[in-house]
Amino acid sequence: MNKIFTFSTLRIKGSHRSDRLSFSYTRLYLGSEQSVFAKSLRFVFKFNPKTNRMKFFIDTANLDDIREAYDLGILDGVTTNPSLMAKEGISGDANVKAHYKAICDIVDNNVSAEVISTDFAGMVAEGKELAKIDDKIVVKVPMIREGIKAIKHFTNEGIRTNCTLVFSAGQALLAAKAGASYVSPFIGRLDDIAFDGLDLIDQIVGIYENYGYGTEVLAASIRHTMHLIQCAEIGADVVTCPLKVITGLANHPLTDQGLAQFLADHAKVNG
Ligand code: G3P
Repeated sequence: MNKIFTFSTLRIKGSHRSDRLSFSYTRLYLGSEQSVFAKSLRFVFKFNPKTNRMKFFIDTANLDDIREAYDLGILDGVTTNPSLMAKEGISGDANVKAHYKAICDIVDNNVSAEVISTDFAGMVAEGKELAKIDDKIVVKVPMIREGIKAIKHFTNEGIRTNCTLVFSAGQALLAAKAGASYVSPFIGRLDDIAFDGLDLIDQIVGIYENYGYGTEVLAASIRHTMHLIQCAEIGADVVTCPLKVITGLANHPLTDQGLAQFLADHAKVNG
């Protein structure tokens, strides 16, 4: 392309999601404009750049899937819920506890086990029992008023919590105020009712950054790889998703084509 002159602008671009503050660089060519977004600068100019690494949790109670994810070498934890336990046919107090123990024996840390009670006393009693199963257990508590009290109680007792069923920034703020270790906003279920789940993740990340809350944003109800990648762009601390979403990240047709070509070329000269 024949360049007649170059015109460069450097401007601050405030945008909605991951680019809270970023730069763009514009170069004018004859009859056309080429824009280059200096994405690498985004981290330099973020108000509170994250120092922790993004965690990958698997959202299942299926032991085979958990083992497979763990064997990939990138698994940081597991989240379960009563529906996922029921899906595996796990019932009865003793069996449920044994199943949580089996999960804890596979992974290195962070196994979210959800309470069934909905009153403060019941949640506290149940959560304490769950926490006794293994140090890896994080007690999962629903975002209801009694749940907020229970989370505060567990925080004071040094028991880690995951505040679940979060669908608004206000709920996430309450979870952080109560000292939850994790807050679980459900992206997919918001998308299902025509609200943008990723917008909520962005909003919560921004609010927590404003005040330096220690609660980690655990993006849940993730349905596909783009959800996961966009959570990474936004700066969610953790994602939890089915195994297929994690393994889906590895797929690319050009990788498959390229590998087939490499192997074919190798075979040509090596027999
Ligand atoms: O961790 C919460 C998650 O299990 C909900 O996912 O797909 O049932 O909305 P989903």
